Amino acid sequence: MQVIETVAEMHAVRASMTGPVAVVPTLGGLHAGHEALIHAARKRAGTVVTTLFLNPTQFGQNEDLARYPANRERDLEIMRKAGVDAVFVPSVEEMYPPDDHFAVDPGPIADVLEGEHRPGHMRAVATVVAKLFNATRPDLAYFGEKDGQQLEVVTRMSRDLRFGIEIVPVPTVRDERELALSSRLAYLTDKERAAAEVVYRALCAARDHWDDGERSNVELENIMKSVIASESMATLGYAVVVDPDTFERHAETNITSGAWALIAVTIGTTRLIDNLRLN
Ligand code: PAJ
Repeated sequence: MQVIETVAEMHAVRASMTGPVAVVPTLGGLHAGHEALIHAARKRAGTVVTTLFLNPTQFGQNEDLARYPANRERDLEIMRKAGVDAVFVPSVEEMYPPDDHFAVDPGPIADVLEGEHRPGHMRAVATVVAKLFNATRPDLAYFGEKDGQQLEVVTRMSRDLRFGIEIVPVPTVRDERELALSSRLAYLTDKERAAAEVVYRALCAARDHWDDGERSNVELENIMKSVIASESMATLGYAVVVDPDTFERHAETNITSGAWALIAVTIGTTRLIDNLRLN
């Protein structure tokens, strides 16, 4: 596995790669969810490139950048074992030189849900992903459904800005108790981790009611909220049902199109997100 630290070197190495070339961007703190993305890429691509970059701009002032559980040597070892051909590990200076001011504006989707709670976050994600795409020049790029809104932002960016990169979604990897894997689970005590299982229970409750014919967005959202409220350690961020095509909250009281349920909760000091397609 080649470890590449500069954009110039990345471009030089890219020129001799066997296609199709797939990229899997990560912040570090690797777990089985990241590995699933790498394995999915491995199946289709001639060359698999990962990126390992703890992007400071997508973290808010009071967020967890300083304690984020990324560990370069451990993360590189996991990538090597998963069959990655090359990893791009740039420094902050390489990605953000002092005279660099351009950014990617995702439009209205950046202002709702995660974007509303984390102002500037979606813009920072789109911008860094655009830079990582331009550094690695992939044909395919793999993203997790776990971060549903991010997946939507990146998919639209590739489409609207004509990157010509196919964005491949990968289903959410969960632990044996259905908790969506996340680097941030490392912050939780055992008790908090057990409490966090309420998120998937709430999503499943919405899906069960959907399967039984419930089509009111308000009812489906109330079902999720009441399950979250049953766990005293969990504080609700949002529990919404959006239209997967527009990513807007369903205004319909009788949903006739697709539906995607998304939840954010805080347990202790840790914010967790998860989602489930209802249809
Ligand atoms: P990170 O949180 O490291 O996640 C990297 C990729 O792994 C994302 O596409 C994310 O959706 C996916 N992922 C995380 N947990 C997953 C799980 N349980 N199952 C399946 N996939 C999972 O997301 C980021 O990094 C950053 O915002 C990034 C895109 C790298 C830009 O900085």
